[in-house]
Amino acid sequence: MLANNQPANISSFQHEDRVFPPPKGFAAQAHIKSMAQYRKLYNESVNSPEKFWGKQAKEELVWFKPWKKVLEWKAPFAKWFVGAKLNVSYNCLDRHLNTITANKAALIWEGEPAGTGVLGEERTLTYKQLHREVCLFANVLKRNGLKKGDRAIIYLPMVPEAAIAMLACARIGVVHSVVFGGFSAQSVADRIHDCQAKLVITADGGFRRGAIVPLKQNVDDALGIQNASGEVLAKTIQKVIVLRRANNGIHIQEGRDVWWHREMDNVSADCPAEPMDSEAPLFILYTSGSTGKPKGILHTTGGYLLGAKMTSKYVFDLQAMDTYWCTADVGWVTGHSYVVYGPLANGATSLMYEGAPNFPEPDRFWRIVEKYGVTILYTAPTAIRAFMKWGTEWPRKHNLSSLRLLGTVGEPINPEAWIWYHEVIGGKRCPIVDTWWQTETGGIMITPLPGATPTKPGTATLPFFGVLPEVVDDQGKAVPRNSGGKLVIRKPWPSMLRGIWGDMQRYRDTYWSEVKGSYFTGDGCRQDKDGYFWIVGRIDDVLNVAGHRIGTAEVESALVSNHKVAEAAVVGRPDDLKGQALVAFVTVKGGVTADQKLRDELRNHVAKEIGPVAKPDDIRFAEALPKTRSGKIMRRLLKQIASGGEIKGDTTTLEDLSVLARLSSSEE
Ligand code: PRX
Repeated sequence: MLANNQPANISSFQHEDRVFPPPKGFAAQAHIKSMAQYRKLYNESVNSPEKFWGKQAKEELVWFKPWKKVLEWKAPFAKWFVGAKLNVSYNCLDRHLNTITANKAALIWEGEPAGTGVLGEERTLTYKQLHREVCLFANVLKRNGLKKGDRAIIYLPMVPEAAIAMLACARIGVVHSVVFGGFSAQSVADRIHDCQAKLVITADGGFRRGAIVPLKQNVDDALGIQNASGEVLAKTIQKVIVLRRANNGIHIQEGRDVWWHREMDNVSADCPAEPMDSEAPLFILYTSGSTGKPKGILHTTGGYLLGAKMTSKYVFDLQAMDTYWCTADVGWVTGHSYVVYGPLANGATSLMYEGAPNFPEPDRFWRIVEKYGVTILYTAPTAIRAFMKWGTEWPRKHNLSSLRLLGTVGEPINPEAWIWYHEVIGGKRCPIVDTWWQTETGGIMITPLPGATPTKPGTATLPFFGVLPEVVDDQGKAVPRNSGGKLVIRKPWPSMLRGIWGDMQRYRDTYWSEVKGSYFTGDGCRQDKDGYFWIVGRIDDVLNVAGHRIGTAEVESALVSNHKVAEAAVVGRPDDLKGQALVAFVTVKGGVTADQKLRDELRNHVAKEIGPVAKPDDIRFAEALPKTRSGKIMRRLLKQIASGGEIKGDTTTLEDLSVLARLSSSEE
């Protein structure tokens, strides 16, 4: 089977035989020191999962009340640590307060704009300080009417307050839904509507590549958006808490909007952590699927935290002296599990950076690594490819010798980028962990363990404890080694999603119907002779553009919501930098001129409907879209056309793709 969205340069087999064993010194100090140790634990975890997870949960987390049962599995619904109580914020903060970790940096933050002299404003919050801020803000949430079980939207830049807001929600049992700052007012409104949120936490603005992202303005716009029947989408919102960050003179609506700093002055710093049921919702995070609007992926308390904590500890081999930096935004799941919850549950120092990797110059990341002595760096292949393009002179300007481990996430990494990362950034001494997982899985699923697993450029290697992946054919039967197929997970795992908010039928249909009894990932995969998993990319209509997950259906419906558009079909084409680029084929309504002006208008329209992240890279106007006799758009054909390189000549010419449809019969 061919992955229809296969990204650039992924299938190069030439590196498959290049094996990088864990460096000797590294293995000696690591939590997991050998393949034998990994295999022993892995076998225990899949042969007696309840025993394994029960033991881990007892050792890793602080519980207020023990469980009656480790797992209740009524496929496809799982309950982990049934009857137990705990609190995520307690496990990330309070538990460290009577230990030597109390005065250790929990968060080190650098803002994007230049401070005085050296680049970047800086803030450090120790565990004790972070605990205090979280308690104060949890009381602010209560004061503004939030109760256990209510939903709050967090729409903030990458500032410590984003982590504070998440932990404060968790502390009092409020379910948070973080919305990435690159999403539009419409996306904010849709998410508020879907989860019926009562409150929004935002900022006057955030800094990105020298510009101010007008977050509060977007929230104001979002709160006014109506659907087709005149219903205000965000009518459940009662309060907006505004953090002052950009000082850009925003509008404050009396009675609805309150300033973060003023509220903090009016509450006590005493806020006990609420004992939460192990299965109580912790957060909802919206992500794109093959059809319709983004789905609200639901994660709960005990199992999620155990997954985030254990994967952070073993995959990043966290040690007491590490300065760990995951470059993801908290608007994505990586920011949830590996900027906030996983590292803090481990008492680690987690670094946060607000801005772009190339602001003011392409060495910003390397400047940060040197300045704070970063030891572990976790980033996306897209960023690595951009750094390659910008040239080795930028990293070479800095002393990167503090680094001891590198990680990647979000998309397949092409072997060339892996080797560059290894040599130029890692100085050939740092193991690389290529981690495969998804919003739905909550935590890392397939990954090397850096002290044990020999790595090969381009593969996420082997499953984490308790994870049972398999590559199967359309009938759900395992395929032989080296054959392509669908990647499924055969057994439930603690940090798995518990459903789609408000739509359990869609949960069943999306994940549990494709291959009966197994979780379907949506990814194509191949296992090599050593059993290593090589992910080739999405095999559904989801694209991965610069590590961002984008549904083709969403972009299509954004395009056709413009009154000049008759029909639209969106496909991916390989892109050397972003993995995939978004190409839209559009037919226009009668009397509309298809020109460059319209192209710009449509790109901006998509940015307004979804967010700048979903702007098509290329819009191609067509007389008609190729369709099968039954009327289905022939996407495979469009993909081939889109991948055929730049269109020659006048780019505004309308292509008659229906001719191609008549020539091609293989699609039917
Ligand atoms: O296609 C896989 C790709 O990203 C998808 C999940 O996207 P999202 O839910 O946004 O989560 C991204 C961060 C965990 C997957 O279905 N993907 C993620 N990591 C890898 C990957 N593809 C190949 N290799 C990876 N390491």
